[in-house]
Amino acid sequence: MRAIHLVCVVLAASGPVSSAPADSTAAAGMLPAGPGRTVVEARCLGCHDATRLGSPGRTRTGWTNVLNQMMNIGVVLEPSEVRAATDYLAAHYPEQARTAARIVPGEVQLTFAEWAVATKDAFPHDPLATRDGAIWYAGQRRSLLGRIDPKTGSITEFATRVPDSGPHGLTADVAGNIWFTANYAGYIGRLDPKTGSFTEYKLPDTRARDPHTPVFDQKGVLWFTVQGANRIGRLRPASGEVRLVAVPTSRALPYGIVVSSAGVPFFAEFGTHQIASIDPDTMVIREYALPNPDSRPRRIAMTSDDRIWYSDYARGFLGSFDPISGAAREWASPGGPKSQPYGITVLNDIIWYSESNVEPNTLVRFDPRSEKFQVWPIPSGGGVVRNMMPTADGGLVLAESGAGKIALVTIK
Ligand code: HEC
Repeated sequence: MRAIHLVCVVLAASGPVSSAPADSTAAAGMLPAGPGRTVVEARCLGCHDATRLGSPGRTRTGWTNVLNQMMNIGVVLEPSEVRAATDYLAAHYPEQARTAARIVPGEVQLTFAEWAVATKDAFPHDPLATRDGAIWYAGQRRSLLGRIDPKTGSITEFATRVPDSGPHGLTADVAGNIWFTANYAGYIGRLDPKTGSFTEYKLPDTRARDPHTPVFDQKGVLWFTVQGANRIGRLRPASGEVRLVAVPTSRALPYGIVVSSAGVPFFAEFGTHQIASIDPDTMVIREYALPNPDSRPRRIAMTSDDRIWYSDYARGFLGSFDPISGAAREWASPGGPKSQPYGITVLNDIIWYSESNVEPNTLVRFDPRSEKFQVWPIPSGGGVVRNMMPTADGGLVLAESGAGKIALVTIK
């Protein structure tokens, strides 16, 4: 009953329709009428609400990809249900015209270099810049990891040992091993790039199917979010021990994760308006509410003062939150309320992020001292930049998943 109630509340706040239903029957009635509606109601609203369907909307092929992705993370659909849901979603949630990017000029100069990934439809989800100057990507839909040498443009791809693993988030350890979350296969993987050999660390709970974003702390312990399963994981590479804990708020959708200077992981709760921390020893989770209940922080980054910067995907804002004082501040993103700020990072205490629902996608720079924005169009169009990170020598790498490209940004 509680889960059903939550569906209703979220739909009422920001879904495609506005009246608040009294029970699950009424909630079901909130999706537009048409053949296939009952399948979508029964199969698609258990883990997230219908706001996931409406914006940005998709082409038929886009919906086919989403249904495959959902089945990969454990949603069970009969072939007839796949057809019915695809017809329904393509008819009622078509791709919407994106608003034009708002380019904001400024003093900083930069250049983009972009490489198409070797396997065209691999869907590079996350980028990773390693100390040796290479750029890695997680080819989620073709279950591979790729390595680009930006000097020569040569690309090497490594197919995961376990097929259909859906590699998603990427990070590296100090020895240079590449670690990834196997989003479709419920494990944390490690690739030794010298030998090309993979190691898999299974999650101890079969319900925890979709490990999401990984990050190492200063002691070499790997922390990760498990979005749909609503858990946070800790992997100790020395022993291989993996532990999972549940997030207190149900359906919080733990998403982006960073580690503070004191070694405390913080993560965004994309299903609600909260940021949370996890005690590295006891794994006790503490949640902090952001000022606006409609905020949906998707990814986070941290400045050297341990302030958290979040991309508010639902409202089109950049926010900062200081977990020590509890102070929060927000700035409207230049692309507007529907710009869907997504991938975000910090480089030399400057905030960089991308607006994923403007045409073309943008790269946004925000200087916390002057509170000034500067905005560039992404040459390829971006294709939704789900993640980005700094390089060792002061640049940025971006994964342009829908465009099938990786970008290296050089800042002058
Ligand atoms: C078992 C839980 C679960 C069910 C049931 C489920 N989803 Fe999802 N869905 C997820 C999770 C987890 C994600 C996030 C995946 C990610 O970000 O990589 C997601 C993401 C999505 C997205 C966003 C994808 C993107 O590219 O950002 C859409 C759209 C979506 N789901 C639609 C559906 C539809 C349609 C159905 C019904 C067929 C469905 N979901 C059923 C768990 C579920």
